[in-house]
Amino acid sequence: MKVMTVFGTRPEAIKMAPIIKELERRKIEQVICVTAQHRQMLDQVINLFEIKPDYDLNIFKEGQTLTDITINALKGLEEVVKKELPDILLIQGDTTTVFAGALAAFYQKIKIGHVEAGLRSYNLYSPYPEEANRKLTGVLTNFHFAPTLSNRDNLLREGYDEKSIFITGNTVIDALKYTVKDDYKFKDEVLSQIDFENKKVILLTSHRRENIGEKMEHIFSGIKRAVEEVKDAIVVFPVHLNPRVREIANRVFKENEDIYLVEPLEYEPFTNLMARSFIVVTDSGGLQEEAPALGKPVLVIRDETERPEGISAGTAKLVGTEEENVYKNLKELLTDEKLYSKMARAVNPYGDGKASERIVDILLDKLSK
Ligand code: UD1
Ligand code: UDP
Repeated sequence: MKVMTVFGTRPEAIKMAPIIKELERRKIEQVICVTAQHRQMLDQVINLFEIKPDYDLNIFKEGQTLTDITINALKGLEEVVKKELPDILLIQGDTTTVFAGALAAFYQKIKIGHVEAGLRSYNLYSPYPEEANRKLTGVLTNFHFAPTLSNRDNLLREGYDEKSIFITGNTVIDALKYTVKDDYKFKDEVLSQIDFENKKVILLTSHRRENIGEKMEHIFSGIKRAVEEVKDAIVVFPVHLNPRVREIANRVFKENEDIYLVEPLEYEPFTNLMARSFIVVTDSGGLQEEAPALGKPVLVIRDETERPEGISAGTAKLVGTEEENVYKNLKELLTDEKLYSKMARAVNPYGDGKASERIVDILLDKLSK
């Protein structure tokens, strides 16, 4: 069996890494191809996990549009897929690299395994373009690796054959096990000086396309107000490299001593920072999965989420994108101890850390010659 993995952005690399490691452990032939839709943020992850791509399409360009990513990834992948002719091509998640990867495999009639299949918000414009990417990829997929039961149910409702759907858990939980350590020491100057005992550290991340613009300004203004009113609260915000996000963050948060804007962190310090934080405020998909596993309450600064499991479990709350709602919910969670302890429970609706083993087992079962 020859397995080809294709990925291009930070979160895909984090969630594909445990599968690559598992394939390595079992000495299964594999070909690793990165589109490099992200450059620096991808390299941070592949260096940490010591992944050496066989192909690097290096498509990243500053200010890339969705069309740029789709065309350049598809064109580069055509050559690689034709040359390697794997038994299966694996993609992970909902980025434009994922959709291009699925299409490239389909055009060569190569089987497709979609890792993290079946998540749905049922609004094509939120998350944008990810909801569409996930659906478009589903149509071309032979093996749907659904993290949860409700992801599987979404696929069944859309008419996919139940024999093609496998509940595996999310590989993000497998990845977390590599990095979070009780005795972890930060090398970064800002992080190593944070007083986690006496400060309520809010870990903030934000990058969604549909929020960029006024919504993001309103979200940040709401966070700023709450932090200014709660004495022992501080924010650490590793700012995404998207220049549009950086401009809004720098403008809204300027000159506030309790809000630390830092560069994107490597995965290891980042997850250890999350493990020591008080609250997570995010529009990220991955963080909505990691924070409940680490017992951190999450405020989801989005209008919709395709990850309702954390909300049902009571550790995450969808607070929307309006300033007043963000402010009120954050202030309440910072000051209401009862509410805080109700939300700060380690629950893990997203997996048990064995998703990558399961996925490789299924591949061996279905594809071994
Ligand atoms: C992409 C994915 C999104 C995923 C996110 C994870 C698409 C359409 N979007 O969004 O689903 O949640 O990655 O972070 O696939 N940049 C750099 N260096 C990098 C990465 C990004 O400078 O290493 C800057 C560039 O200016 C780039 C911009 O960020 O143009 C946006 O990057 P892009 O990959 O187009 O979209 P993301 O918003 O990162
Ligand atoms: N992450 C990281 N460094 C950071 C911010 C996030 O390593 O500075 C990790 C985080 O732990 C998670 C993933 O990146 O696993 C989430 O990526 P992102 O929010 O960019 O994308 P999404 O999950 O929304 O697609």
